[in-house]
Amino acid sequence: MGGGNRAARSLYSTVSFCSQLARDVTAVMNTYRIAVYPGDGIGPEVINEALRVLNRLQEIDSAFQLDFTTFDWGLRRWEREGQVAPDDFLDLIRPFDAILLGAVGWPERVPDHVTLAPLVQIRQTFDQYACVRPSRLYPGVKSVLADKGPADIDFVVIRENSEGEYVNNGGRLRRGQPDEVAVQTALHTRRGIERILRYGFEMARTRRSKLTMITKSNAQAYAYVLWDEILDELAPQYADVESDRQHCDAAAMNLVRRPESFDVIVASNLFGDLLTDLGGVLGGGLGLAASTNTNPDRDYPSMFEPVHGSAPDIAGKGIANPVAAILSAAMMLDHLGHQPAGNRIRRAVERSLATGDHTPDLGGTLTTQQVGEAIAKNLDAV
Ligand SMILES: NC(=O)c1ccc[n+]([C@@H]2O[C@H](COP(=O)([O-])OP(=O)(O)OC[C@H]3O[C@@H](n4cnc5c(N)ncnc54)[C@H](O)[C@@H]3O)[C@@H](O)[C@H]2O)c1
Repeated sequence: MGGGNRAARSLYSTVSFCSQLARDVTAVMNTYRIAVYPGDGIGPEVINEALRVLNRLQEIDSAFQLDFTTFDWGLRRWEREGQVAPDDFLDLIRPFDAILLGAVGWPERVPDHVTLAPLVQIRQTFDQYACVRPSRLYPGVKSVLADKGPADIDFVVIRENSEGEYVNNGGRLRRGQPDEVAVQTALHTRRGIERILRYGFEMARTRRSKLTMITKSNAQAYAYVLWDEILDELAPQYADVESDRQHCDAAAMNLVRRPESFDVIVASNLFGDLLTDLGGVLGGGLGLAASTNTNPDRDYPSMFEPVHGSAPDIAGKGIANPVAAILSAAMMLDHLGHQPAGNRIRRAVERSLATGDHTPDLGGTLTTQQVGEAIAKNLDAV
């Protein structure tokens, strides 16, 4: 009997050792290195809460581990050392699996082109060509549209992030003269259009299988007609996705009068920029608007950040809404292949918003930290 017990105990400890080993191996295999760039103003405040939620999640979900490295780049570094980020900042973050950004800029203290320069370089060097911005109105958040609620507002805008109207291509002649001339030329490539449309089609397949491409091909007969032609070429390859196209002016109107008709929107750099501000307000405001700068080919790290800026007007007051940063962190987990964990964060956010855990921008009285703590606590229950 004694021998049997010893054998059972030994078997039990072998089994428990093996399961611990399996958990450790899973953790090692799924450990991701995250570069954290809190930035300026409210950036560090909202990133603190995103990290609080991620840390709580990895305590209760053994499917992955996150290894954070924080970089103190931004305004304070500029004031201390005369540089927002070190010369080799791109080399420093290249090996990471993802970048989590707060927000940068403080125009009264440093010109925006100085503080925002690293962001532009990260997006371009790491070919983060898909800027993805979901607009979803959560229950408990007041809609700016009369008679439209959470069931009506759930779409995502994919903005082409690498070319189009925002390539730095142009010049000025006869500066300051009455006959001064400025030329700015957009650049649209077949490769760039095709890859962003394919990304949109693939995303539509994971949602409600509808893609709307936004152009202005009635007025711009070269670039946007190329967009139209490429959509026509690709659509048969994604016959399971319903696709259509709208001109940007009509789309702006339709987003307001019938947002429920949109699922995935793909737009050029400029039109995506315009429509995502509209999408942000339809989804409950800047405090809730999350965003990615994705390199879908995964050759480089992608970057996840709230849509909002550094909000110097409320920085240091502890009232910034951390939800946009927390939802951006959820999108980072999706990208790393852990969508169930991302969904869990979204459910925790949903529960918080529905029960009135609101910062002042949503009409509430909670602080940034209180909202972060409430969402972290909700993770256990959802
Ligand atoms: N990606 C980025 O880091 C990014 C994006 C946009 C603007 N900026 C920079 O941010 C600085 C400020 O720009 P801005 O004032 O035009 O835009 P902003 O987004 O910082 O603020 C606009 C308004 O929204 C409010 N707001 C923003 N985020 C909020 C939040 N989480 N909770 C509650 N209220 C919030 C602000 O208080 C402000 O009234 C500038 O330097 C700008 O260049 C940076």
